[in-house]
Amino acid sequence: MLKEATSLILKHTVVSRKHLTPELALRLITPDCPLWRATEEQTPFKDPFWAFYWPGGQATARFILDNGNLVKNRNILDVGCGCGAGSIAAAKMKAKRVLANDIDKFAVIATEINAKLNDITVETSTTNLIGDRCIEFDTILIGDMFYDEEFANLLFEWLHTLSADGKTVLIGDPGRHGLTARRRRSMSLLAKYRLPTHSTMENNGFTHSTVWRLNT
Ligand SMILES: C[S@@+](CC[C@H](N)C(=O)[O-])C[C@H]1O[C@@H](n2cnc3c(N)ncnc32)[C@H](O)[C@@H]1O
Repeated sequence: MLKEATSLILKHTVVSRKHLTPELALRLITPDCPLWRATEEQTPFKDPFWAFYWPGGQATARFILDNGNLVKNRNILDVGCGCGAGSIAAAKMKAKRVLANDIDKFAVIATEINAKLNDITVETSTTNLIGDRCIEFDTILIGDMFYDEEFANLLFEWLHTLSADGKTVLIGDPGRHGLTARRRRSMSLLAKYRLPTHSTMENNGFTHSTVWRLNT
């Protein structure tokens, strides 16, 4: 599975730096790839979220690269790592330990490929950690995971428990409906970024993305 998945990812993606963190090279499906316009039947991947660098994830990674002190010597868990950019940024900024977690096997394989591309190693896992106490970690990274109402409810409640337990929860989000005004009132805005114009097509029309910290 690993060898096959790796060659499929290498075959269908290109290395891109056209995003908010150009210091990170990432293998992605871009408008230059045939799969960009493929129908569901034509793609060998089911919902390849990992093949896109979502605006929420771009903001989280940008923020980490600019504020390395927040991750240096800390134990970082990147939930829903997708292409792995948040994890790679944290490892680059000298986090003590980084676990890139995603329930999609292709996402963690893509993360390992991308980590290697940036001369970084990160641990990976496909365990669904929602509800876990995450005792080994002090900082949780969330990039663009509030796109679904039902999942947003579950996710936010869990993140609140972790934050109340003293963990730092950083959330990157471009304004998805799951991050409601009420939820935003229990968060502090840390940064707002304008997304590169060449990537707005990939960003579903979002022009900005933000980073928040969940209040304890
Ligand atoms: C919209 S993508 C964001 C990816 C990446 N964080 C970014 O911003 O580019 C959401 C990711 O969350 C993953 N995901 C969904 N439910 C999950 C869960 N319960 N635990 C871990 N990952 C999950 C999906 O497989 C997908 O890769």
